[in-house]
Amino acid sequence: MKAIYPGSFDPVTYGHLDIIERAAEKMEHLTVAVLDNPSKNSLFSIEERIELLKEVTRHLANVEIDYFSGLLSDYATSKGCYNMVRGLRAVSDFEYEMQMALVNRSLDSKIETFFLASDNKYAYLSSSIVKEIAKFGGNISHFVPESVELALKQKFKGGK
Ligand code: PNS
Repeated sequence: MKAIYPGSFDPVTYGHLDIIERAAEKMEHLTVAVLDNPSKNSLFSIEERIELLKEVTRHLANVEIDYFSGLLSDYATSKGCYNMVRGLRAVSDFEYEMQMALVNRSLDSKIETFFLASDNKYAYLSSSIVKEIAKFGGNISHFVPESVELALKQKFKGGK
């Protein structure tokens, strides 16, 4: 089976990477699709988010990094792939994830969403939390791969 793992990945964390690695092991092919949404205030540009994802998934032969804008259901049609993967960290994720899964399926009945339970280690982790810690100079080495850590340090160089 082929699948798409969509998200903002601003930036990719060990939580995302865990989902990517586990999904890639089960799937024939996994496309990690980065949402290019100019109206969303992203710290990293779409090019930077793609580059970091490429770097941290280099060891995974069946993983491709791509991007999309607009509706995920339209992107699914353009790829001819209707299986979505999303990670669930906690009950707090459930409502939003369920809403997205249902909206996507109502937009295109071919779309199915597969949820992977996040690893316990990463249940509290999010890109926003990591950005917040990095902004104030905290240690993020347990949360993101080294290349992402360096990129975050570069962004917040000089302190904020
Ligand atoms: O990493 P995120 O921010 O939780 O990912 C959310 C994402 C990108 C999967 C979601 O916002 C999305 O698919 N946006 C595209 C617009 C869309 O299709 N909206 C309708 C379904 S909610």
